[in-house]
Amino acid sequence: MYIAMINIHGLVRNDNIEMGRDADTGGQTRYVVDLVKELSTRENIEVDLFTRIIKDSRTDADYRKSIEQVAENARIVRLPCGGNKYLRKELLWPYLDEYVDNLISYFRTQKKTPDIIHAHYADAGYVASQISAYFQIPYIFTGHSMGRTKLEYLQSQGVSQEKLSQYYHIYTRIKQEENAIKNASMVITSTNFEKETLYEPYESRDLSKMQVVPPGLDLDTFFPYYHYEIQDPSITEEMKLAQYTMVKELQRFLTNPDKPFILALCRPDARKNIDLLIEIYGKSKELQAVANLVIVAGIRDDITTMEEGEKQVLTDMLLLMDRYDLYGRMAIPKHHNPQRDVPEIYRLAAMKRGIFVSTAALENFGLTFIEASAVGLPYVGTNKGGVCDIFENCDSGVLVDINNLKKVENTLYSLLTDSEKWQHLSENGVQRIRQVYNWKAHVDTYLKHVDSVLHNKTKRPALAERMGSIENLLVCDIDNTLTGDREAADELAKILKVHNKQIGFAIATGRSYESAKAILSEYSFPEPDILITAVGSEIYYGIKETPDKGWSNYIRRRWRAELIKKTLGEFWELELQKEVGTQREYKISYNISKKCEDIPDLMQRIQEKLGELKGKQHMVLSHDTYLDILPYRASKGDAAHYLAWKWGFDASRIITCGDSGNDRDMFTSPLRSIIVANHEESLNNIRKNKRIFFATKNHAAGVLEGLYHFKVLS
Ligand code: GLC
Ligand code: MG
Repeated sequence: MYIAMINIHGLVRNDNIEMGRDADTGGQTRYVVDLVKELSTRENIEVDLFTRIIKDSRTDADYRKSIEQVAENARIVRLPCGGNKYLRKELLWPYLDEYVDNLISYFRTQKKTPDIIHAHYADAGYVASQISAYFQIPYIFTGHSMGRTKLEYLQSQGVSQEKLSQYYHIYTRIKQEENAIKNASMVITSTNFEKETLYEPYESRDLSKMQVVPPGLDLDTFFPYYHYEIQDPSITEEMKLAQYTMVKELQRFLTNPDKPFILALCRPDARKNIDLLIEIYGKSKELQAVANLVIVAGIRDDITTMEEGEKQVLTDMLLLMDRYDLYGRMAIPKHHNPQRDVPEIYRLAAMKRGIFVSTAALENFGLTFIEASAVGLPYVGTNKGGVCDIFENCDSGVLVDINNLKKVENTLYSLLTDSEKWQHLSENGVQRIRQVYNWKAHVDTYLKHVDSVLHNKTKRPALAERMGSIENLLVCDIDNTLTGDREAADELAKILKVHNKQIGFAIATGRSYESAKAILSEYSFPEPDILITAVGSEIYYGIKETPDKGWSNYIRRRWRAELIKKTLGEFWELELQKEVGTQREYKISYNISKKCEDIPDLMQRIQEKLGELKGKQHMVLSHDTYLDILPYRASKGDAAHYLAWKWGFDASRIITCGDSGNDRDMFTSPLRSIIVANHEESLNNIRKNKRIFFATKNHAAGVLEGLYHFKVLS
């Protein structure tokens, strides 16, 4: 089984994950990489983790590698989208179509497509739903955190409407989450809280396809604290050194470093309510008497240069420390190595019979509670959210209403002074976390769910499969090529149906999608596999009318529709076409006045006028009657070449057929082409080319003649 994990944003690598370096590299990244590692230990499984390639001097060189081998059967594959720079996840939306195309092309070159996809977060959900439609591969979705909850939170903080959409792109995210949930075969969450609360406001939520699978923890790293006390030989020099460094670091802050300490460990994020904790501790002489306070909140050099939100949190921390005069009692280490030091900090706290605390009002999952418990450090945390599962499963800490400060204080105090209770919770943590939150158990359950998805998958022929099995692809203009001679059209239709297995059928027309469908329905042609419409500015796939968004994304470069319309408004010879569907996002169409006598001259003048604009566009003249303006990258022919590239289809196996000026770009190498006898005069200048067959018959009869000529039919 070949599994494709997709996790586009953040800094993804196998070793030394830069946990908490920014909001995009944290628990999710850790989870995905660990999942891949555990999967790679299983037999008969191959797994690729797809992420974004980053070539940026501000980030490590590891993220420049296209392929990073994780194990024999597991890799991290980095594909480009949106340039080289490291971008925060909210900025990736416009580039995801590019990612889709690169992923398709990757599957194609390695000649292997996954059996199943697992998409992490909304951006990957978007990519997965596209790939899944093209290849008919089922996908699993895990949102990790959800946009609607975030929106609610941001609104409660008074974030402006403009910032919500311009900075957070929160509405795009929510829309894509809805879509990702709707099309997913299964949604996996880590906790019941996520399933019941976070997904609850989503219209597309369907409880019957949701599964809770608690993730695993790297238990070798989070071994119990008492291994130090019994001098376990597996403790490495590096671990000892890490612990020693932490001890030294704390000594810089604490007068009495041997006292137990209350430990908070989180990103400097306002939602973590670090200020509440300092307040509780600062006001409580009792707590101060029995314990120190240690807050490990990210890594900092110069607070003034940090991101706004973090700066605020850290500044408040320092001010509160000063206000309550906590010098000598409170430590706020500047640096630590997230991967190496974190387990040691927990263990250090446990060795001193301390407590882990989080005053965040809500944690979706609560990884830190699991980590603390695993080393034997009891916790105090909120009685809401993901931690409730941990509490129920392990009984290794105490949950309280975080808004009740007195309650939090009393709970901390009683735990610090009740060694029997402390011991009980500590032992539970060490044992039960190992039973519930281990990777082996996680992956066993995970694979059971994957099997059920694959088992229930309905078999539909995928477009990708179809493109792999046809021998030739016929790309036909409609008006006056397919149409014009009803009898010949029926004959051609019959033959195409008989040979449907070998000959793919696509159309390329100036009409809109709806109008093309409408006229085709009057004929007996087979259902087209692909529809290139609006003179090549749009591509649709027959199945479920799927638009090719990669194509729109590719052609939209330097397109200035409004400016073009304004500029061409000056020409009395041009009249905007009025029929429904003729003006499209990437196509502006005019009728040329019959009174215009010198069309080449008109074209020349238009060209010059448009040349003055900063943009770039493509002019298509047909029958001296229609003028279409398209983005410079768009034409029926370019669309055909794009299809060949995207689906790995040898372009010389494409046969294009047409009669007029808007078909001209379809007659380019290495495509082979049929020009029907009733073609417009101007096409005569491309005669004498072996790839191009000028039929002696009109309309569909000419197409048929050409198919015999090229031996597509015998
Ligand atoms: C079709 C389209 C029209 C276009 C013409 C030539 O008739 O409806 O908008 O100008 O083809 O490409
Ligand atoms: Mg035509």
